[in-house]
Amino acid sequence: MGPVIAVTGASGQIGGRVARRLAEAGTAQRLVGRDASRLPDFDGAVKAPPASYDDGAAMRRALEGADTLFLVSARESADRVREHITAVDAAVAVGIRRIVYVSFQSAAPDATFTFARDHWHTEQHIRDTGLRHTFLRDSLYLAVLPAMVGAYGAIRGPGGQGRIAAVAHDDIADAAAAVLLGGDAHDHLTYDLTGPEAITLAEAAAVLTRFTGRLIEYIAESRDQAYASRAQYNAPAWEMAGWVTSYEAIATGEMAKVSTAIPMLTGRPAQNLAGYLTTHPQAWEHLKA
Ligand SMILES: NC(=O)c1ccc[n+]([C@@H]2O[C@H](COP(=O)([O-])OP(=O)(O)OC[C@H]3O[C@@H](n4cnc5c(N)ncnc54)[C@H](OP(=O)(O)O)[C@@H]3O)[C@@H](O)[C@H]2O)c1
Repeated sequence: MGPVIAVTGASGQIGGRVARRLAEAGTAQRLVGRDASRLPDFDGAVKAPPASYDDGAAMRRALEGADTLFLVSARESADRVREHITAVDAAVAVGIRRIVYVSFQSAAPDATFTFARDHWHTEQHIRDTGLRHTFLRDSLYLAVLPAMVGAYGAIRGPGGQGRIAAVAHDDIADAAAAVLLGGDAHDHLTYDLTGPEAITLAEAAAVLTRFTGRLIEYIAESRDQAYASRAQYNAPAWEMAGWVTSYEAIATGEMAKVSTAIPMLTGRPAQNLAGYLTTHPQAWEHLKA
């Protein structure tokens, strides 16, 4: 067995898929999660004692003995950057030598999408540790597009006529596994992980209409309309801003870049929306006519 990879978020979509791929490759892993009962079982994978990113001592126990940290970003919160910093500092404290972090496309301190700012600050902290690192800046998940369809069969938001190159969880996991298993070839690199084409939300709605047999429209909202149509959820201000600005980042073009990183890392094309809906009918079944 080679070096041990600690996989966080292993009970979730990205981390679980990456852990499966690493297990298939015969890699020794420590699966990290807040609740061991939610972690998957894989050959060669040890379940670490439960750890939340914001608990430095628990994270140090969970990461003990690992060489590489695969860090999946935490569930969005007002305090997410501090949680990530605590997790990264725990990695440094136990002697982790390399961090592969799942970031977000167009991460920047002044990104339109407010949650993408968290990712930039996390990247910056990882850079400052001096450890070997790779950043995987993924686009919006393809799985999110059918989930964006709300009441009355519409995607509503201030996305204007902007484009987005949404990406499949499986493609992100394949690319992440290639990076994790690829030695130092990916050190100090940042990859945008996107789908193969950038489409407008109106085009996404048309594809969903074709699959579901039900008219699904895109209704372009203004910022004020977006806040008003989401007011019923009584979400805290930081969360509401994240929801609204995720669309505004599409409008500005910050999500429009199509990257070739997935085919380059995996040796096969990334899935587009139609391909994803074909292979994942459960993602849109609830929208059927
Ligand atoms: N690109 C996109 O479209 C998009 C959309 C939504 C979210 N995201 C971000 O991408 C991340 C991964 O996506 P996913 O689909 O894999 O999400 P997911 O299925 O919800 O999995 C998230 C994983 O992260 C763990 N986690 C969350 N907060 C944590 C914390 N504070 N401390 C320790 N572990 C924590 C969860 O563990 P538990 O079992 O303990 O809950 C779970 O294993 C999300 O957490 C979020 O930051 C991206």
